[in-house]
Amino acid sequence: MIALVTGASKGIGKATVSLLKREGYTVIAISRTKPDSGDENYALDVADKGKVLLFVKDIISKYKDIDVLVNNAGFGIYGSFLETSLEEEEYMVRTNLLAPIYFTKLILPRMISRRSGSIVNVVSEAAYVSSPTLLVYSATKSALASFTNGLWAEMRKYGVKVSGIYPGPVKTNFTSHPSFKDAKDSFSRFSVEPEKVARAVIKAIKTGKREIYVPSKIFLDPYFLKFSYIMQSITYRIVSKIFE
Ligand SMILES: NC(=O)c1ccc[n+]([C@@H]2O[C@H](COP(=O)([O-])OP(=O)(O)OC[C@H]3O[C@@H](n4cnc5c(N)ncnc54)[C@H](OP(=O)(O)O)[C@@H]3O)[C@@H](O)[C@H]2O)c1
Repeated sequence: MIALVTGASKGIGKATVSLLKREGYTVIAISRTKPDSGDENYALDVADKGKVLLFVKDIISKYKDIDVLVNNAGFGIYGSFLETSLEEEEYMVRTNLLAPIYFTKLILPRMISRRSGSIVNVVSEAAYVSSPTLLVYSATKSALASFTNGLWAEMRKYGVKVSGIYPGPVKTNFTSHPSFKDAKDSFSRFSVEPEKVARAVIKAIKTGKREIYVPSKIFLDPYFLKFSYIMQSITYRIVSKIFE
């Protein structure tokens, strides 16, 4: 079984690669700096569409079928929208949102023809609660959630599992982006270990649940969002039934 994980050099991606290997997968690991965690490790900027197209073509000709795709690579830019750089924000949109679309577009057709496979997108609670100073990041995650939900509904009849993982704060290198240097450290004491998110990825692969939350240590965050969860669950069940 072959799994491909983006953003595999650190944090959630690295923890996910370890767990997938323990589950018996051969893991293709990708990030801008060549990771050391996978069975095969590649340096690739997932925001570069041309390079992603060539890379995935090569991988498919080598491995034929990818059983699991984990779209995890991503980053945030902290700061008032009045001060953040538009160029960096565009790059973030390509990394957080367009890259999962590129990889999915290229890998999905063979999953459909085999009627099996899992696509797991690492989203964020920020998809549901857009905070000042992280609003474009939140927008990328809202859009990724929307893409994931629609894909889940569309793929049900093809036997391909699609899930979104929604972590709260996690102890990773996420805040190492230079823009976080003046950020208030409000959440780190509530952060969970990246392994907890990696376990949610494995659960997603096994169950194909549309959304899996990984709450912070406060544990209450999902309850604040509960009402919208319930309404969305009902809505997506109806949408997928209509599509069938
Ligand atoms: N930490 C949190 O609190 C938290 C909460 C909710 C969701 N998330 C999400 O979880 C995912 C993983 O983040 P993390 O917390 O594990 O942060 P992290 O420790 O900074 O890891 C991010 C990974 O993505 C890679 N990456 C970033 N941009 C890339 C690009 N353009 N091309 C290829 N690889 C790229 C990084 O490697 P290189 O720098 O070498 O490329 C690194 O391997 C992200 O999508 C993030 O939005 C994080």
